[in-house]
Amino acid sequence: MKWSEMFTSSVGKKWVMALTGIFLILFLIVHVSLNACIWANDNGKMFLDGAHFMGSNIVPRILEVGLMFGFLLHIIQGIMLEFQNRSKRKKGYAVAMGNKGSKWYSRSMGLLGTLILIFLIIHLSHFWVPNRSNQGWLLGEEINLYEKMRFTFQEEWVVIVYVLGCISLAWHLLHGFQSAFRTIGVRNKKYLHLLNATGIAFSVIVPLAFALMPLSFYFGWLK
Ligand code: HEM
Repeated sequence: MKWSEMFTSSVGKKWVMALTGIFLILFLIVHVSLNACIWANDNGKMFLDGAHFMGSNIVPRILEVGLMFGFLLHIIQGIMLEFQNRSKRKKGYAVAMGNKGSKWYSRSMGLLGTLILIFLIIHLSHFWVPNRSNQGWLLGEEINLYEKMRFTFQEEWVVIVYVLGCISLAWHLLHGFQSAFRTIGVRNKKYLHLLNATGIAFSVIVPLAFALMPLSFYFGWLK
């Protein structure tokens, strides 16, 4: 495959979705692990130490640029793939397959991705934008993200938006996780079972842990 075909052919587009998707999955692991430090119940100390490292060290700061680029590529290619699939679907199938052909969430990746994007814009405006505008790119004063979370998650509608965002993420991952690894070549039957099980576990545990964060602040389970 030529480089340009990575962006124009349908197999190329699936590869871009898979590679950026796996990169975003790795980001989610780091993000959920660091955030889980809020449950150390030490008034945010462990979490703030981790957040300070991520905000003040050159390596995560450079990775952040890659992350934004990864998100953009994933979104743009996702939109292109969705349009491509829609124009194909217009021709329609002779028999409506319903859930027998594929699961509804596999057919709704575009919709679920859009809901996550809306969540992401709201989410970045809560934490990332105020922190970066205070701190600049590397130097400068970081805001206390723990107190910012406590303050942000006092509002009921915000907590509801976050929980809905996490539910959309769970459905998106339920198809996306195993699909990404299949695209890059996990085809062996033995590994497919393992892949499916890991995909389901990841899609439940990570969004659930995320959803419990705003809930923990809202219900006062944290110091
Ligand atoms: C639901 C619980 C979540 C909480 C409490 C939370 C909290 C935070 C906080 C405190 C930051 C730090 C901002 C900064 O570094 O200045 C952040 C950044 C970020 N979050 Fe979340 N987050 C959650 C879920 C998510 C989810 C589900 C996603 C992705 C779908 C996500 C994507 C991001 C991104 C892309 C950034 C910017 C990362 C960076 O470049 O620094 N977050 N989040």
